[in-house]
Parts: sequence; structure tokens; C-alpha cells
Amino acid sequence: MNLEKLIPIPTHNDIKSHDDPILFSLIIPTYNEGKNIRNLIEQITQLLEQIIPNEYELIIVDDDSFDRTWEIALELTEEYPCLRVMRREKEKGLSTAVIRGWQVARGEILGVIDADLQHPPETLLNLWKEIQKGADLAVASRNAEGGGVSDWSILRRFLSRGAQTLGLVILPEVIGRVSDPMSGYFLVRRRCLLGCRLSPLGYKILVEVLGRGKIGWIAEVGYVFQERQEGESKVTKKQYIDYIRHLIRLRLSLWQITRFIRFGLVGLSGVFVDMTFLYLLSDPTTLALPLTRSKIIAAELAIINNFLWNDAWTFKDISLKQPGKRKKIKRLIKFNIICLGGLILNVLLLNFFFNVFGLNRYIANLISIALVTVWNYWLNLKLSWRSTEIS
Ligand code: GDD
Ligand code: MN
Repeated sequence: MNLEKLIPIPTHNDIKSHDDPILFSLIIPTYNEGKNIRNLIEQITQLLEQIIPNEYELIIVDDDSFDRTWEIALELTEEYPCLRVMRREKEKGLSTAVIRGWQVARGEILGVIDADLQHPPETLLNLWKEIQKGADLAVASRNAEGGGVSDWSILRRFLSRGAQTLGLVILPEVIGRVSDPMSGYFLVRRRCLLGCRLSPLGYKILVEVLGRGKIGWIAEVGYVFQERQEGESKVTKKQYIDYIRHLIRLRLSLWQITRFIRFGLVGLSGVFVDMTFLYLLSDPTTLALPLTRSKIIAAELAIINNFLWNDAWTFKDISLKQPGKRKKIKRLIKFNIICLGGLILNVLLLNFFFNVFGLNRYIANLISIALVTVWNYWLNLKLSWRSTEIS
């Protein structure tokens, strides 16, 4: 056996474009599927030879299965030159396996299918048709017309639906886009994933693709989830926990919580700058300049301070995409205008809470500041650091 034929494992995390592209790459993640892969590879190649002969590759990503799936797969490469094999010894997990596969894939269209024949290979033809019509993503769904599960217990159906409902509550704008977000059988255009950092956890790679990819047109194809004939499912309690952690991580990331916290910290540093300069300029023991003039200078310095930190830290990823001094000055001017608007809003809110609601003035001020921070953050994100990309 020729171990040199194994594909090296990428060490970076991005999906890039390929110098030597082909039409289609299908990833088959495996863990102890030795009894299934020959049958699967045979069926898939037969189907793909009909529609795209010699324009596809199949990539098995095996996590060092103890039934030596990778070895069996490597032997099959003699017979099936379109087959490539990756053996991972250090990393584990279904989603990362799929991503590693996509990273080494050459296809313009990337796909994934389970190795255990629970995903009927014929459905590939329907998925391919949808991609040909122009879909960015074609998902095989148990819940679309013609779809279903073969022989599931009530408990399993309940768990599956429960997981979907939970997803809908936490991530409605992601999970709600497809009828079967748990599907691990789909095709997606590589260009929709370029530049996206996929950081998957556990089992549900489609959730990550929907959440972080630039996916416009989605097509669905019904399929019946088959019973496993050989080997066994790898689903354990851990997968349910990972799924929930995955949803929460994606939620926080889509809300950009880290960014908001940075924005708040920068705001605090601005308060410090403002106070310091107010003291240095207006205090009788220092320069003793008139109060209003001092305050204007101090506030402007704080705004510049905040701008520089936000540009270099909070919104770094966005400002890197808009290089040049001119653009930076433009961002500074917009930032200034929005902050001024924020200041006026702050005064109005403070008066409102203090006079109309009769709140304690400091509490009223705190609430006003919190609200204005959200306003400032949101507007600056959308205007000062507006990126032209689809978000
Ligand atoms: N490389 C790798 N590493 N492959 C894995 C791992 C892993 O840690 N865990 C599972 N796999 C492979 C299996 O060998 C199989 O080919 C595929 O991933 C699916 O695993 P199963 O254990 O058979 O999952 P399932 O049938 O319960 O779950 C399927 O449920 C969905 C429907 O809700 C998922 O696999 C989805 O793809 C499927 O659509
Ligand atoms: Mn399975």
C-alpha cells in the first residue's frame, strides 16, 4: 500500500480558491465505516460518471478508525482514481473532518455525504440539478416533499424535532432558512465559503455554512433517511451538548458580542481622556481656561482617541478592507458626526428619564449612556465602518 498517497492535513483554517480547479468535490467523513465504503464509492462513481465524467473527486476524511477504514479506502484508490484519502490522527470530529476535506478539495462545487448509506446516493443527481439551475446551496432534506425517515422511534423523532426547535429559538435567521438544518447531505458553491472562517463544533456543519457562508439561493431536495445496514451510529450525548454550544457560539458571534465589548472598553478609555483633559485645561490649578472651550477640546480629543482604538481594534477586520489615509479620515468624520448625535441624544435621554420619569439623576445618566452606547455602536458599524460585503 502506498502511504504517500494520503493527503496531507492542512494546518490553516481558511477555504481558499484552488489553482487547478475541477467541477465537483464530494467529502465523505468516516469513522469505522470499513464495511460501507466500497459499496458507497461504487454507487457514487456510477452516478457521477453519468453526469460529470472525470470532472469530480471523492475525498474520504477518516479519523484513524480502528477498523482501518482509511486503509481500505487507500486500496480502493487503485480501482477509483477519482478517490483521495485523508487520515487524521490528531484531530477528531465530523464537522472539522468536512472542513479539512473542503480545504484540500479542488472542486468549484463542494459537497458532503455520510459514508453509511443512510443518505441515498441517487439524491446526488437531484442536488446536482439544483446547483445547475444556479442554487448556491442544495440541501437534501427529510422534511421537504418526498422526504422522511424510515423507521424512527418516537423518542428519536422527538429529539430531532426538539433540536430543530431549539435552533429556531436561538438562531431563527439561520435555522429558519431550511426545512432540515440537521442535514449532513448537501452541495454548496465554493465561492460562498471563500474568506469565511468556519469554526465548527460537533456534528452540524450545515448550521455553520448557513450562519457564516454568503448563501443566497437555497434549494431543497426531499430524501428518505435510510436505516443503517452496517456499522453503528456515532451519536452520543456529547453531540447534543456540542450542538447547543455550537448554537450559542454562533449566536454570540453573529451578534458580534466581542466587538460590542471592545467598543464599550474603548468608550471607557474615552471617558478617561475627556476627564483628564478637562482637568488639565479648565482646572484653576492648571491652565484655568473657560469651561465650555475646555470641554469641547477634551471631548474632541476623546472622540479621536476612541476613533483610533476602534479603527485599530474593534473594527480592525473592516478597516483593513478599506485601506488608505483618505478613507480613514472619512471614517473619522463619520464617527465624529455620529458621536455628536450621540451626545445630543444623551442629553435628551437624561432629561427625559430625570424630568419625566423622576429617576435619580445618576441612574438616569447610566441608562442614557447605555442606550447611547448601543446607538453609537450600531450606527458606527453601519455607517463609519460600513463594509460593502453582504453580511
Ligand atoms: N471523520 C469523522 N470523524 N467522521 C465521522 C465522525 C468523526 O468524528 N463521526 C461520525 N462520522 C461519520 C460517520 O462515519 C458517517 O459517515 C457520518 O459521519 C455520519 O455519522 P453517523 O454516526 O452515522 O450519524 P447519524 O446517522 O446518526 O447522523 C446523521 O444525522 C443527520 C440527520 O439528522 C448526520 O450524520 C447527518 O449527516 C445526517 O443528515
Ligand atoms: Mn448514520
